[in-house]
Amino acid sequence: MECSRSGFLLSATAVVSLLSFAWVVILRCWVLPNRASRKLRENGLEGPPPVFPLGNINEMKRVAMSCSSIRKASDPGVISHDIHSSVFPYFSFWQKLHGKVFVYWLGTEPFLYVADPEFLKQLSSGVMGKSWGKPTVFKRDREPMFGKGLVMTEGDEWVRHRHVITPAFSPANLRRMVGLMVESTSQMLDKWMAEINAGNLEFDIEKEIISTAGEIIAKTSFGIGHGDGKKVFEKLRAMQVTLFKTNRYVGVPFSKILCPTSTLEANKLGKEIDGLLMSIINERKKDTSGTKQHDLLGLLLEDNRGDGRSGKNLSTKDLVDECKTFFFGGHETTALALTWTLLLLAVHPEWQEQLREEIREVIGDKELDATSLAGLKKMNWVWNEVLRLYSPAPNVQRQIREDMRVNEETVVPAGTNMWIDVVSMNHDPSLWGEDVNEFRPERFRDDPLYGGCKHKMGFLPFGFGGRMCIGRNLSAMEYKVVLTLVLSRFSFSVSPNYRHTPSIMLSLRPSQGLPLIVKPL
Ligand code: HEM
Repeated sequence: MECSRSGFLLSATAVVSLLSFAWVVILRCWVLPNRASRKLRENGLEGPPPVFPLGNINEMKRVAMSCSSIRKASDPGVISHDIHSSVFPYFSFWQKLHGKVFVYWLGTEPFLYVADPEFLKQLSSGVMGKSWGKPTVFKRDREPMFGKGLVMTEGDEWVRHRHVITPAFSPANLRRMVGLMVESTSQMLDKWMAEINAGNLEFDIEKEIISTAGEIIAKTSFGIGHGDGKKVFEKLRAMQVTLFKTNRYVGVPFSKILCPTSTLEANKLGKEIDGLLMSIINERKKDTSGTKQHDLLGLLLEDNRGDGRSGKNLSTKDLVDECKTFFFGGHETTALALTWTLLLLAVHPEWQEQLREEIREVIGDKELDATSLAGLKKMNWVWNEVLRLYSPAPNVQRQIREDMRVNEETVVPAGTNMWIDVVSMNHDPSLWGEDVNEFRPERFRDDPLYGGCKHKMGFLPFGFGGRMCIGRNLSAMEYKVVLTLVLSRFSFSVSPNYRHTPSIMLSLRPSQGLPLIVKPL
């Protein structure tokens, strides 16, 4: 009797657990998405019809496939900067049907697509940095990369992190990093010289620059000259490859089960990286020698040495996540800005020469430092023009935390994810004029911030408002250091092996690398 009662209790518990699980699944996969869809429709926000459970993912793949077969047939020698329809073929396709603002679905998650700066202005005016969220699906998906670092935090936690981290990026601190940047770049250039002397003139510039920029960001973030730093650097790179080499189903319920190997591998690497960074941080905390480390971690630790009463100190785990965030946020973005610049300069030798002349005039034989770099005005125009034509961060993502009114008719409901299409806005002739797809750095001569863009929210290479990129000045400094040193020693032309196929792999990159012919001056 006793036995059958406990058997009954056991099966009742199992049934209740199963029913609760089923209810959570139905709620997450069906009830909530349908409610969100209805609310969006009531506000006039519609788009391509989603299909459960993938949303519009299959259609995105189908459009991308048909576009890539057209691209394969295109002339290998042609380098067109009119890239929106090839890097985001599905958005370009949907824009023709639904305009510059519409809703599409990644799995069961609705995304509000925005490529209209006026809509963005009205939606975001008066919204504080702390009131923005980041899409939950991306937070979950990129947990091993960013943890709870600045890119992914929200609300008061974001305010606390941003407040503590901002001083580390002050001009005075960035100045001290020039030496580290010169060191890594000079090593890369000496290696090129040795290879050229051995008869090799062709280099995959993307690979070269990404590896040097990775070293620079690791040195400026947590120092890789010491102890475990080098291992962290290697594992961070491995994790990036693991996470982005597979076909992924972000937003689809239980999608991690669909890619178990890469998920497990990324989690394993994530744990190893955390452990190594923890030991670097703990060693530095114990160090009583008084030696100052001028990397970002050193600066954060210095600020952290207060009595902690203000509640502003970052914990060791916070510091680990921020080191990873600096690496992933700052490594490829800067490297790709440099990579695309070298392609554009190879196609436009007249601009190579103009920049060389400016370097000779402004820097001459002087040592590189922040003051002399600030005098490189034409290099600034080129930097902005490259960020416009080939923005390394091709989109900005946010999540709406409270209902937001755009105009009389439209309220965007809380919980909606936003995908702001930076590439589309940067290639929009109605914002930039008919020469939108030409490389014309001089458009930034008279309007250094917006390059003549007709709308102030139309050019957002570093995002907007309080959540704008914290590393933009570090990045600009690294760009100028690397480009100055490279242009002072070498000239470039495009290799016949280059195929112009820009694609999105989190960032906007040349999918088949960037082979250039490099000659010493
Ligand atoms: C060309 C180089 C770079 C580009 C194009 C770029 C682009 C961006 C963009 C678009 C955002 C999102 C802003 C928003 O939501 O409004 C962002 C945020 C961020 N970036 Fe960068 N970035 C670059 C370099 C760097 C570097 C070098 C670092 C650090 C070492 C860095 C660290 C961050 C961080 C921590 C955030 C989050 C800021 C916050 O939410 O408060 N970035 N970046």
